[in-house]
Amino acid sequence: MKRIVILISGRGSNLQSILEAKLEARIAAVISNNPAARGIDIARNFGVDAVVIDHRGFPDRVSFDAALADKTDSYRPDLLVLAGFMRMLSEGFVKRFGGRIMNIHPSLLPAFPGVDTHGRALREGVKIHGCTVHFVTPELDHGPIIVQAAVPVLPGDDEERLAARVLEQEHRIYPQAIRWFLDGKLGLDGNRVTVNAGRSAPEAMVCP
Ligand code: GRF
Repeated sequence: MKRIVILISGRGSNLQSILEAKLEARIAAVISNNPAARGIDIARNFGVDAVVIDHRGFPDRVSFDAALADKTDSYRPDLLVLAGFMRMLSEGFVKRFGGRIMNIHPSLLPAFPGVDTHGRALREGVKIHGCTVHFVTPELDHGPIIVQAAVPVLPGDDEERLAARVLEQEHRIYPQAIRWFLDGKLGLDGNRVTVNAGRSAPEAMVCP
């Protein structure tokens, strides 16, 4: 069975959706850089090993990333899943796990990389917003796109309402992307991810 390590920093709702998806994989560990992350309890409730590596105990990013990489490696993961992990990873870390790290981002990349995606989407007046699962490269919130789900921005939306609509889709597409990876259905053609899932464009979801 393939092994997955999940990195979190906070609430853990994506973690929960992945655990509830009962994937054909062993969730070997959940690692949090934040000792107060609610996701730690979620992991333990599912019987998953949850460990904390507090970045504040390290003098710089490189030493934190080295400790994180060693801990991660000790679980021998086939796939590393970033689920609300709020630390930028150094190039060294990303290269060490090259092609085996996924992230979910709450916007339709390449629009709105970084933070405050819902607020920025509202201020820009976009009519369509959404979320993206992508492979991680050293550049923040870039990397080959695996699946996206789009939602409408509705009149009267505030950040909270829009975020909730997007989050519902995050919880659908992240387990799906991981399942494709586990089933060997993902390929790479240059910077494009190909999904060999037998339906037309299942990796583009438009949600009314
Ligand atoms: C999600 O919106 C995810 O897209 C972003 O961080 C948030 C994490 O939420 N990367 P949760 O911890 O999974 O509830």
